Amino acid sequence: MSSSAHFKILAMSGSLRKASLNTAALRTAVTLAPPNVEIEIADISDLPLYNEDLRINNGFPPNVERLIAKTIAADAVLFAVPEYNYSVSAPLKNAIDWISRGPTKPMAGKPYAMIGVAGGLLGTSRAQLQMRQMMISLDAMPINNPQVYIGSPKDKFDANLNFIDPAGLDLIKQLLEKTVALGRQLKA
Ligand SMILES: Cc1cc2nc3c(=O)[nH]c(=O)nc-3n(C[C@H](O)[C@H](O)[C@H](O)COP(=O)(O)O)c2cc1C
Repeated sequence: MSSSAHFKILAMSGSLRKASLNTAALRTAVTLAPPNVEIEIADISDLPLYNEDLRINNGFPPNVERLIAKTIAADAVLFAVPEYNYSVSAPLKNAIDWISRGPTKPMAGKPYAMIGVAGGLLGTSRAQLQMRQMMISLDAMPINNPQVYIGSPKDKFDANLNFIDPAGLDLIKQLLEKTVALGRQLKA
């Protein structure tokens, strides 16, 4: 894959609320995409709870099928990982469980990156560590560094929920660059 080829990142936020800071940080990440890199935020809010019977009886539900197809088509995946009770939020876990059952191991060999925003100091570090463990099962390729833990977010977002913390913005830019570099290397 040449260094100028179009590169597609599929993004997912594990928080479904409208004013989610994790989704807001993802929207900011979209604006930081390097040239020729497209970041699409997938909607995971309407996926049914994982149930093997749904797939066996009727095939994947259409919205699950679409998410799996988008994951397969993406060159990399970017997760915004909220921390719920020291762990990955249910909506994100659910999306990953569906994706993991896709017909061709949709995340196998695919780079993935994470950012996370939490009210406390630790910025979802516990949940992100659990994501890493989970993604081993999907055979995905982590971007190990930089680790983007956005804690104490009070002054890091403006009134329109733009993420404005200079150090955090720099980390997200680095993260995106590393994701694209690994993705291109793997495809070369
Ligand atoms: C069910 C639930 C559990 C939470 N557990 C944690 C936690 O374990 N650690 C933490 O730092 N924040 C925790 N929080 C606070 C969230 O980090 C905070 O609400 C954050 O803003 C959620 O992300 P969002 O703004 O993207 O919705 C929890 C919030 C909820 C709703």
